[in-house]
Amino acid sequence: MKNMFVFLTGILFCICSGLESKALVEPYLYDMSDTGVQFRAVGSGTKDLLKVKVEGNGEYTCENPVEIQPKKYLYSAEIKGLSPSTAYTYSFSFGKKEISGLSFRTAPGTAEPKEVKFAVWGDTQTIVMDIKAADSIAALKPDFLLHVGDLVRGDGRNWKEWTDYFFDPARALLMSVPVFPVPGNHEQGVELFSQFFPAPKSSSKHAGNGYYSFDYGNAHFVSVHLWYGAPGAGDKSPVLYNANKNGRDDVAELKAMLAGDAASPVTKAQTWKFLYLHVPPDAKNGPESMKQVWKEILPLLKAYGFDMAFFGHKHIFSDTRELVVDGEDSGIKGMTVGLYWSGKEDWDLKKAPSDPSCVPSFALVTLNKSGKKEAVVQPYIWDREHVEFAPSVKETVFFR
Ligand SMILES: [Fe+2]
Repeated sequence: MKNMFVFLTGILFCICSGLESKALVEPYLYDMSDTGVQFRAVGSGTKDLLKVKVEGNGEYTCENPVEIQPKKYLYSAEIKGLSPSTAYTYSFSFGKKEISGLSFRTAPGTAEPKEVKFAVWGDTQTIVMDIKAADSIAALKPDFLLHVGDLVRGDGRNWKEWTDYFFDPARALLMSVPVFPVPGNHEQGVELFSQFFPAPKSSSKHAGNGYYSFDYGNAHFVSVHLWYGAPGAGDKSPVLYNANKNGRDDVAELKAMLAGDAASPVTKAQTWKFLYLHVPPDAKNGPESMKQVWKEILPLLKAYGFDMAFFGHKHIFSDTRELVVDGEDSGIKGMTVGLYWSGKEDWDLKKAPSDPSCVPSFALVTLNKSGKKEAVVQPYIWDREHVEFAPSVKETVFFR
């Protein structure tokens, strides 16, 4: 009889455990604007119920998650009616988890020359370094993040890569700072990327799968997914992705996207224009055809008044420099940041590279400081001796 009781209790426990869902990706902020923001999260079941309470704005519940992979459900709650340039305190509950005392800040209104701080990071492919970088960025309290691609280490079609290399190490940061990422070569196929990061609502009609744009105060940002080689295609030819075709695209499409975006009255009125993409024009491992792509789009970037471009991919810090393509100086500044380093020493931060040829780094960009039309670009590079990111001595200041 006793054995039967133990057996039945075990069965009941198994059934209950099977039904219990849990947070696979904890809530993260996305698509911050001057009047709204999205909370997104992934749970293992449909009964997690993402509830968000924003002080002074009400309570939001997402009860209809979308199954994005077997037994993985994406929840999203869209918060509207917020005031520009305002700090909000919020709390959330998701599954059994409840966290309060969190906060976020909305963007200034479009064209407003208010101070804006954003961090640029990328190549988050090493867990210990990702945690260190995320904590360091959080301490600087940026308004938002640009991620220049390679959020995962191996293959972006593999779910575990996303939690191991991005969402888990950055979970605390992503609860207070919204991220705007562009896909890198490791987000192969970009299906999961697009589930996590659909084009922001303010994007142009060409948006999707890594092409999008958004405005933050008086700055305009364009994300371009420019990678050579679809999954399995290797590095043979330039391949651009576009949601409208759900597949291969070409340089003409990219030009059309940039032209359409630049023609918007809102874009034209903006003081600053920034581009961010994964592969810089001086990447050593790019094919010749990539250079051709750059030769074709660089005149457009000049014509549309871009100020600066941010890159990743090289895992090397390259300070702010003029973009030179095929001997032609574009007059547009570029900076490459990177975190990942390879080798057995991944686990030991004291052995992380301090060699400038491969130093983990991110950058903090401040616009409109004290109301001036200036941009201050401050790189943070890895200080192996003190086991922390420290501002490199050189900051770049430029005016508009
Ligand atoms: Fe890369």
